[in-house]
Amino acid sequence: MQKLSSLTSPLVLANGVEIPGLGYGTYQTPPEDTYKVVSEALSIGYRHIDTAALYGNESGVGKAVKDSGLKREEVFITSKLWNTERGYDKAIASFNKTLENLETDYLDLFLIHWPANEKQFGDEANKINLDTWRAFEDLYKEGKIRAIGVSNFMPNHLEYLLENAEIKPMVNQIEVHPGWPQTEAIRYCQRHDILVEAWAPLGEAAALSNEVLQRIAKKYDHTTAQVCLRWGIQQGILPLPKSVHKNRIEENTHIFDFELTDDEMDVIGSLRNLGGQCKVLDQVDF
Ligand SMILES: NC(=O)c1ccc[n+]([C@@H]2O[C@H](COP(=O)([O-])OP(=O)(O)OC[C@H]3O[C@@H](n4cnc5c(N)ncnc54)[C@H](OP(=O)(O)O)[C@@H]3O)[C@@H](O)[C@H]2O)c1
Repeated sequence: MQKLSSLTSPLVLANGVEIPGLGYGTYQTPPEDTYKVVSEALSIGYRHIDTAALYGNESGVGKAVKDSGLKREEVFITSKLWNTERGYDKAIASFNKTLENLETDYLDLFLIHWPANEKQFGDEANKINLDTWRAFEDLYKEGKIRAIGVSNFMPNHLEYLLENAEIKPMVNQIEVHPGWPQTEAIRYCQRHDILVEAWAPLGEAAALSNEVLQRIAKKYDHTTAQVCLRWGIQQGILPLPKSVHKNRIEENTHIFDFELTDDEMDVIGSLRNLGGQCKVLDQVDF
């Protein structure tokens, strides 16, 4: 497992691209606040920003990166293709709009936000995902994206893609936090050299009042948020905490100066249903 020692320590994707091992999330960050909070995150030292077309805040991310004084290549930017834009042609058009919003001529990582699922699309679901993926492969081959991946794909969605793709996904971004450990999906991805990114790594804050996490946090003189994030990176997954408060944005970076024991990792991993959305991915209607 690749070990991280600081906020900018990279993990290496299957294609050799380096990705900073902790990212800054922007889901539900209002577009009008995005420039300010992303600027703060960059000044604190984050070099990896996660956004999506759905969030409506790509422009704020792009402007913050532009005005940061950092070179474009010093910041790793991820965005995602929304569900209404599935299919080859729509995916290409939506990607171009994302580049425009971000005021950049390439993306570091582009993800299919959610798989088309059988509940909505029946037997066509896998084919729709593959058709969308062909657009990602072509954009990658043209050098417009440095790495391509998926989000919210479980092994049953990944199987068909892995069998039929020319280029395998390098990343899968899924919900992971204490209380929603996703052990099987993580093992599956790690076996296939797909980096798992954790969305809602704090269980959307609801995990933070758990007594087990509080007790462990006290032992290390850290916070429960830091323990949640540490539990992620010690499994080789990449957490994407979101906050619009500067003190918390910074707090969430202090996770490289303590180490959970194997027992603590297991105890945290055995917690169940603490916050987040805990969605069964084949049942969603969007
Ligand atoms: N691919 C997907 O489908 C998907 C889905 C959801 C999320 N994501 C990505 O993953 C990122 C993280 O997920 P998330 O935003 O849903 O949940 P999260 O990061 O688990 O939790 C965010 C919540 O925790 C609070 N918080 C953050 N740091 C804190 C701290 N140190 N102490 C106390 N409270 C704290 C935030 O409040 P304040 O902001 O008020 O500080 C916010 O309410 C998103 O922003 C997005 O980039 C992806």
